[in-house]
Amino acid sequence: MNLSRNDLCWCGSGLKYKKCHLEFDKKLNILAEQGFEVPSRKIIKTKEQIEGIRKSGEVNNAVLDLVAANIKEGMSTEEIDRLVHNFTISQGAIPATLNFEGYPKSVCTSINNEVCHGIPSENRILKNGDIINIDASTILNGYYSDASRMFIIGEASEEAKKLVEVSRECLLKGVEAVKPWGFLGDIGAVVQELAEKNGFSVVRDFGGHGVGVEFHEDPFVPHVGKKGEGMVLAPGMVFTIEPMINSGSYKIFIDKDNDWTVLTTDGSLSSQWEHTILVTEDGIEILSK
Ligand code: MF3
Ligand code: CO
Repeated sequence: MNLSRNDLCWCGSGLKYKKCHLEFDKKLNILAEQGFEVPSRKIIKTKEQIEGIRKSGEVNNAVLDLVAANIKEGMSTEEIDRLVHNFTISQGAIPATLNFEGYPKSVCTSINNEVCHGIPSENRILKNGDIINIDASTILNGYYSDASRMFIIGEASEEAKKLVEVSRECLLKGVEAVKPWGFLGDIGAVVQELAEKNGFSVVRDFGGHGVGVEFHEDPFVPHVGKKGEGMVLAPGMVFTIEPMINSGSYKIFIDKDNDWTVLTTDGSLSSQWEHTILVTEDGIEILSK
């Protein structure tokens, strides 16, 4: 599609191309000619889409705040699921995981050696010393948001506390590494450095992802990598950063009993925090946390 300067912009803003994404496209074209991997138009969000994802993120944040206020020892992960489900529905939204590719619940609850995609159950009771990731994702008016937080139940081991702390730092450093016209690899580079410096490892088989119009969009966001490598980060991109950090090896396997729950191969602990972020003209905006 070759637009003239006075045509309406492809992004749907209603502005003339020259007043909207013309300079943006020129910049990307130069980068593409230089051999860099550049984002397709499909993954650049419009103003309207961004506003929709922002609102979805507000509900998703409130879901996690509600869990934070209620999570405690002795509670089943099923109760957490009920809390998330009922609140989300009350906000006129839908839990994005529910029936997603057959996933049966409204939230993921991953405890200790579970890396991600733990399925809430009446039989899984939170006990003193557990570390748990609560991964919430919301659809509001068709727009998706995704975030997760860790919770420590009672008093955890020093190792568990350090893992939760370092994985949090990994997320924050990863977010800080995002710059418009930077690279996807800038994120993985800082996450990997910090995790490994602390004697931990970074899960390779799962990563962040584009999000917003669908649950999982391009690009895949690796949490290992090298600065300056991978896709160019352009304003309008929305994706998650969600490093999964293990206290032992990064190797994982999927539970054959439910085909969902991801566990560490060596039984070591795993911790994860996740934000949904937007790349802006001059930095980033956190859309869900
Ligand atoms: N929030 C999780 C993620 O994006 C959801 C995975 S899909 C599920 O990684 F069905 F497992 F929940
Ligand atoms: Co995600």
